[in-house]
Amino acid sequence: MHYPDTRPRRLRSSANMRRLVRENHLRVDDLIYPLFVTAGQGVKKQVQSMPGVYNLSTDLLLEEVEKVVALDIPAILLFGIPETKDAMGASAYEQNGVIQKTVRAVKDSFPELLVITDVCLCEYTDHGHCGVISGREVLNDPSLELLARTALSHAVSGADMVAPSDMMDGRVQAIREALDENGYHNTPIMAYTVKYASAFYGPFREAAGSTPQFGDRKTYQMDPPNKREALREAEQDVAEGADIIIVKPATAYMDIIAAVRENCEQPVAAYNVSGEYSMIKAAAKKGWIDERLTTLEILTGLKRAGADMIITYHAPAAARWLRE
Ligand code: PBG
Repeated sequence: MHYPDTRPRRLRSSANMRRLVRENHLRVDDLIYPLFVTAGQGVKKQVQSMPGVYNLSTDLLLEEVEKVVALDIPAILLFGIPETKDAMGASAYEQNGVIQKTVRAVKDSFPELLVITDVCLCEYTDHGHCGVISGREVLNDPSLELLARTALSHAVSGADMVAPSDMMDGRVQAIREALDENGYHNTPIMAYTVKYASAFYGPFREAAGSTPQFGDRKTYQMDPPNKREALREAEQDVAEGADIIIVKPATAYMDIIAAVRENCEQPVAAYNVSGEYSMIKAAAKKGWIDERLTTLEILTGLKRAGADMIITYHAPAAARWLRE
């Protein structure tokens, strides 16, 4: 059948008709809000390249979290900015590190909120790489023990889920073993399974102070042109015990989100990263695009591509818009 027997416009004729036939929906239930926590008291430092995003000390972060809870956003993802950095990233796994203290404080005040912690070394190492280095090489196996120790320290502090973002081979298995051996078999792993070496992380590295001091992350993060490799990574992380699979960045990789959704049974999270956020904020500030409409269109597009949930700096704004 075709025109004039079919007229697709019939089902677009009014707002209520469009509601009835709508295929995909963005909901507040889909959102995870990333937050940057820093040492000290009373600190609220604007991230220049990410309007509306701050480095917050634990006390002020709690105020921000209260708003997140009031908006009914189900989860936050915490990144730590430590006081000290060294070659081994020791501040990532100390019992009174910035993340460990903050997780305890957040869970004390908001026990229902899901607290997810980013597990990586790049914010904690003086060289800014996600693992241990020898010369200019980022070593895989010696990094695993430190990542596992970091993840365990987060779980001990009360984290509901850990999210390794380092891209070392075997880290999901190492973390799963460390959690299980210590009685945390119920703590899920949300793995940054398909994480590309992307230029869209630029603003994040300003926010987290995690720019590599030499070289780049191309020997551990994935090469952007590759797609089959994403499915191999997914297969491997699932075998190692990943409970949720992250694809990152989101908009330039919607085909990858769709492919992972098709090929894996695990829930898939899209990470709508810092650079994606900054582009919207910059263009909206210039008056070149409508911030609300473009943001909701992108986030809904990620759902349509197959994401079960979305990690996004737009989460509070999106939650407010969805409520209106
Ligand atoms: C840490 C990490 C990064 C991001 C999340 N975890 C930066 C990187 O890999 O360089 C990026 C998040 C964003 O851009 O919003 N490894």
